[in-house]
Amino acid sequence: MAKLMAESSYANILVAVDGPVATVTLNRPQALNALNAALLGELVEALTKLDADEAVRCIVITGNERAFAAGADIKGMADASPVDMLKRNNLARYDAVRKIAKPIIAAVSGWVLGGGCELAMACDMIVASETARFGQPEINIGIMPGAGGTQRLTRALGKARAMELILTGDYLSAHEAHARGLVNRVAPPELYLEEAQTLARRIAAQPPVAVRLAKDAVLKAQDLSIEEGLDYERRVFYLLFATEDQKEGMAAFVEKRPPQWKGR
Ligand code: CAA
Repeated sequence: MAKLMAESSYANILVAVDGPVATVTLNRPQALNALNAALLGELVEALTKLDADEAVRCIVITGNERAFAAGADIKGMADASPVDMLKRNNLARYDAVRKIAKPIIAAVSGWVLGGGCELAMACDMIVASETARFGQPEINIGIMPGAGGTQRLTRALGKARAMELILTGDYLSAHEAHARGLVNRVAPPELYLEEAQTLARRIAAQPPVAVRLAKDAVLKAQDLSIEEGLDYERRVFYLLFATEDQKEGMAAFVEKRPPQWKGR
């Protein structure tokens, strides 16, 4: 049974911890979970606390069946000047999500649009309901993606399809998103969250230091040249030989028994 944390007194999100898996639920259903400054602030605060909590090994971010999030809050920025936008710096919140060291799975259903799609892509994996519709429809309101959409969607789908979606504002179905590698798995609406939490529990059962460094190395593949990426991989690979879990994992293999991870 998931334990609701004291922090679930947040106004715009709910936080529940079930053993090593934490689930953060975006909770502005009246606005299809539009990502305003308050919600993004609470999200980053909660994720930062969960990242620092040794007992938590993997994090799921979800919304509700109708919407993961329909984007940045349009009403809150309709009259903003560039300086207002710069001072609010909401876009930095997405970088903060990207910098969380523990693996994060987005469990998405319904609308996954604009900043919502960018938030899902800032996570490490995406499990989608069959009803999920992804898109970067900012063009329809006179702007363009600003929280990573032009970069991450293009890397995920390739230039041609990303260009089409971003310039038309069209939606991408869960099945196409899966076929093109944007999402890990697609499940019926009543099962997608459970599916994401099952995946999270599997990752949570792996040795945490190796998980952390492997996540970091995979993300480097998006940022570095192949030469620099391979060099980085090799350094963190060698580093793992300093962990007790490497000794335990290999001893357990040789002794034909399950390993007991210590997380160090
Ligand atoms: N911001 C603020 N409010 C939003 C919102 C958003 N992004 N998306 C939906 N809402 C609100 C609606 O205004 C409505 O509120 P009221 O009941 O008070 O009128 C409520 O949520 C329900 O929405 P709809 O009545 O529009 O629901 P629908 O089922 O008819 O349509 C939808 C759903 C197609 C997702 C439609 O709401 C929509 O197009 N939303 C906007 C999507 C969008 O443009 N997102 C990009 C935002 S910009 C951005 O994200 C920038 C960035 O890169 C960071």
